[in-house]
Amino acid sequence: MASMGTRRVLVTGCSSGIGLAVAARLAKDELRRFKVVATMRDLKKRGPLEKAAGDSLNKTLEIKELDACCEASIKECVNSLPNRRVDILVSNAGVGMIGPLECQSIAAMKELFDTNFFGLVRLVKEVLPDMKQRQSGHIVVMSSVMGIQGLLFNDVYSASKFAVEGFCESLAVQALKFNIKTTLVEPGPVMTEFERKVYEDAEMMDLSETDEETAKIFREVYLPYSKKVFTSLGQTTEEQTLKVITAKDPPLRHQTNRLYTPVTALKHADPTGRLPLDTFYKMIFNCARAQLRTADTVSAHRKSVLRTKKIQPKL
Ligand SMILES: NC(=O)c1ccc[n+]([C@@H]2O[C@H](COP(=O)([O-])OP(=O)(O)OC[C@H]3O[C@@H](n4cnc5c(N)ncnc54)[C@H](OP(=O)(O)O)[C@@H]3O)[C@@H](O)[C@H]2O)c1
Repeated sequence: MASMGTRRVLVTGCSSGIGLAVAARLAKDELRRFKVVATMRDLKKRGPLEKAAGDSLNKTLEIKELDACCEASIKECVNSLPNRRVDILVSNAGVGMIGPLECQSIAAMKELFDTNFFGLVRLVKEVLPDMKQRQSGHIVVMSSVMGIQGLLFNDVYSASKFAVEGFCESLAVQALKFNIKTTLVEPGPVMTEFERKVYEDAEMMDLSETDEETAKIFREVYLPYSKKVFTSLGQTTEEQTLKVITAKDPPLRHQTNRLYTPVTALKHADPTGRLPLDTFYKMIFNCARAQLRTADTVSAHRKSVLRTKKIQPKL
């Protein structure tokens, strides 16, 4: 059992990325304030976490199996803890999806919601009654800036994070009555496996279900632009998550990247929604047109060079 002064933190999705980094950071806390239950759905993927945990493994960090899409798996994990006690839940497990809507199946969208939204709901249902009884607890949820502001070609992912935000915002009021805190961590881009997976899927995506212009905007503008944003603005979030967890009065929302704050504030500045809509339209399509023109010029230049060299381009 977590001894007096130490709090038990259950983190989901610790095989890689943010979950792994947060679990390892909390386990290595200099003040030894946490006992970390780092969970993943496939224990065969535990290697990188074990490496990151180092000396804290099996001391302040233990690894357990938990699939956020399976109620029985969540129950089994929580039941295995002394007194079923979870002081802090970090609901982090999540998946991404990008691309034109016409090219994505309803089944894939449902799967995404099953992880990103219902995964959180299942976890909260399991730990909330005990937290209420103890009149203490903290529910920390890895949301996204896309839970506040939607983004082109991220329609379904963003919708799942909006669902997460609405769920937590509603629950937070009731939870507070039982002295349970709720925090939505809203990162901008973070370089993790997440990006590798979504870009890999995007490269292989069959775009035949959408029109040529949309496919062109996605391939030639959105993807390169978005990759650039990730490399230039990508950050880590474990220190900020630690700060939120140890705050005396944790906030309901915490945006990890200040550069995104003006963008998300547009929504509150104009309740009609026109201001953020116009801003995003101009930002993306003016920029898109400029980038498309550049892409066309480069391609025309390449063709003319090849013609000069009397080489036929591979189409
Ligand atoms: N990276 C970003 O830029 C960014 C920005 C804002 C918010 N976020 C959010 O941060 C969270 C973590 O993402 P990440 O960037 O760290 O991505 P990641 O490296 O891909 O990690 C995602 C984790 O979730 C796990 N997972 C997926 N489905 C699961 C399930 N059903 N049950 C349990 N675990 C499951 C994955 O396990 P497997 O290895 O088994 O697939 C993996 O451990 C997500 O909620 C994401 O939406 C990420």
